[in-house]
Amino acid sequence: LFVVHITPELAPVAKVGGLADVVFGLGRELEIRGNHVEIILPKYDCMRYDQIWGLQRTFDDLWVPWYGGAIHCSVYFGFVHGRKCFFIEPHSQDNFFNRGAVYGFHDDILRFAFFSRAAMEFLWKSGKHPDVIHCHDWQTALVPVYLYEIYQPMGMRHPRVCFTIHNFKHQGVTGAQVLHASGLNRPEYYFHYDRLRDNHNPHAINLMKGGIVYANFVTTVSPRYAMEAKDQGQAFGLEPTLHIHHMKYGGVVNGIDYDVWNPETDPHIPVHFNVDTIEGKYADKKALRDRLLLADNEKPIVSFVGRLDPQKGIELIRHALFYTLGQSGQFVLLGSSPDGAINGYFWGLKRQFNDNPDCHLEIGYNEELAHLVYAGSDMIVVPSRFEPCGLTQLIAMRYGTIPVVREIGGLADTVIDKDFSHRPLHERNGYVFRDYDERGLESALGRAIACYYQYPDHFRELMKNAMRYDYSWNHPGQDYLNIYDYIREK
Ligand code: ADP
Ligand code: GLC
Repeated sequence: LFVVHITPELAPVAKVGGLADVVFGLGRELEIRGNHVEIILPKYDCMRYDQIWGLQRTFDDLWVPWYGGAIHCSVYFGFVHGRKCFFIEPHSQDNFFNRGAVYGFHDDILRFAFFSRAAMEFLWKSGKHPDVIHCHDWQTALVPVYLYEIYQPMGMRHPRVCFTIHNFKHQGVTGAQVLHASGLNRPEYYFHYDRLRDNHNPHAINLMKGGIVYANFVTTVSPRYAMEAKDQGQAFGLEPTLHIHHMKYGGVVNGIDYDVWNPETDPHIPVHFNVDTIEGKYADKKALRDRLLLADNEKPIVSFVGRLDPQKGIELIRHALFYTLGQSGQFVLLGSSPDGAINGYFWGLKRQFNDNPDCHLEIGYNEELAHLVYAGSDMIVVPSRFEPCGLTQLIAMRYGTIPVVREIGGLADTVIDKDFSHRPLHERNGYVFRDYDERGLESALGRAIACYYQYPDHFRELMKNAMRYDYSWNHPGQDYLNIYDYIREK
């Protein structure tokens, strides 16, 4: 198959969250299975250009319709660790993608509505005929709308569209003028509850809703989250739309890239190990302690890695820190937030624990340190309020680090409680709690730390169980190919 991903993020060149990892990892898996994959993204000024090979301008005459006129764009081609990528660069006064960051601007919705239109115009003008277009999140939700309303009527041979929702929280809700800007010229037709009109705000359109209505198939990133969104009020207003379109909706758990996250070859950790040489992990634990100036003692290291966003459960992350120190553990945090108040709060905590040899807070984004934290920790906490899939618990398990997670979304689909599951012993791989409160967190983290101290053999078995799971793109890659086949036959 010829599959084109249209995406706002791609690891490692333009990464904000897990979406970037997913596009890279899935793209690679599809190629390994003999498919042809191309990826289209904006040409941001803030990309990691050192990670792009052979970047060159390939298309210089792309005029993208916009507000009744057109914006001139150039398209660049380059390889990102073997993936074939096209980067779209508009030449306009708005400087859509030369702002020093991927997101965070007042006109974000216009920026990505434009990018989606430009990506479609590029496919059309360059005469590409993908079998499947795979687009991601609200940023590219207009892709199937443009395809069916503009390009198909112009004669584009019709690819099928798979739309993956990585998070229902952000939907692209905006004024109807965006329709006009992007060339969807019959406002009364699009501004209808069957199409893009927002379910709650009668004056607004909702790009994600448009994606759900127009795509041939809609996925989210775990079956549990798919259910929670549709049936348990977790879709932030899109529940009725999911019910109407439930026949083309489902969940596929993400994989992680086994080349990037591999304790046997990882260049960012000093000692390599696998399930049979698990002792190597303790040398990495020592290296982590040396690096972060933590005391060398018998204590377990409990970590958190991730965005410090309310989604991730800020209060419980903080509580995990205090509770761990109280239970004779060490705590490591690696995270950051674009929100100054949240960052400031964690800087305050950092100062408070400055002299504590059992605690380290690293506030910022640090890819390389993340590898050492995953490898050198004994446990990782993921106490999210909601979590569509979550990659950090999967990465941690690959390095034999035991996840302590809330029983929701993708966390519930991937972590099986050591004590309270009905699944066979060898399938259990972590600790789970249900209620979003301090007692809930303690009920799981307390058991994990107790097991570490009192039953080291059991803890070691749990580590091996976690390491033996297959969280690669192997299964999800096949699931997506099945979806592509299904929509192509319809
Ligand atoms: P989300 O997409 O909601 O942020 P995921 O768990 O799906 O959460 O993906 C997060 C990804 O970002 C993981 O690859 C994780 O290692 C990485 N990451 C998050 N915060 C940091 C950080 N401060 N430093 C390094 N890597 C980070
Ligand atoms: C989103 C979700 C996260 C998921 C990631 C990749 O950022 O918050 O749970 O793992 O997308 O799909």
